Amino acid sequence: MRCTVIDHSIIKADLTVLRDKDTPNDLFRSSLARISEIMAVEILKQAELEPFKINTPLEETIGYRLKHDYVLVPILRAGLGLLDGFLKYLPDSTVSHIGVFRDEQTNQPNFYYSNIPAKLHLSHCIILDPMLATGGSASFVADRLKEKGAQDLTLVSIVAAPEGIQHINNAHHNISIYAATVDRELNAAKYILPGLGDAGDRLFGT
Ligand code: PRP
Ligand code: URA
Repeated sequence: MRCTVIDHSIIKADLTVLRDKDTPNDLFRSSLARISEIMAVEILKQAELEPFKINTPLEETIGYRLKHDYVLVPILRAGLGLLDGFLKYLPDSTVSHIGVFRDEQTNQPNFYYSNIPAKLHLSHCIILDPMLATGGSASFVADRLKEKGAQDLTLVSIVAAPEGIQHINNAHHNISIYAATVDRELNAAKYILPGLGDAGDRLFGT
């Protein structure tokens, strides 16, 4: 399975807070935001740079800037919980919202909104969604982005199930997946075990 797990003590501690069924919504939100920020820093360690000339007050020297444009793609709703952490380090990225909810009977993704920019072939797209369960939602979103020209795609999840990773690996050979943990399995209702429950509901108190 192709998935990079970001191993970090603060993430492990915050993930425990997310998993706890008694964690209130405000603490859930702040813990998820902190995990997202650490994930952003760790993932962007490998971001490609381009050198350019600058002048210090004393002389000309070489500086660096990010080589590519980034498009952040939070999958509504729960993906919004990861957005600020990535925007902090990629403040001039474009944000493309895509609304998908999983049908409770079929577990298939249901599409309800998108705002995808043109010229995606020039950008690096980072799909944000804390939960990768069957992989249906993330795969659906990756297909929509590819239809608009995206070639360079990363998927950031927090809790990933082996089934979801396998789904993305099979359907999208060129997508890099990052997660904070790979959990054991899905239950009969396709919820991740041990997981953290319904991320969107816990994030927004519904
Ligand atoms: C959750 C989650 C993912 C999806 C994962 O969203 O945020 O988008 O389920 O499941 P999958 O991998 O099996 O597709 P949900 O459909 O509950 O919508 P919400 O974010 O609005 O709560
Ligand atoms: N969506 C969630 O929010 N949680 C799961 O465990 C599976 C899908």
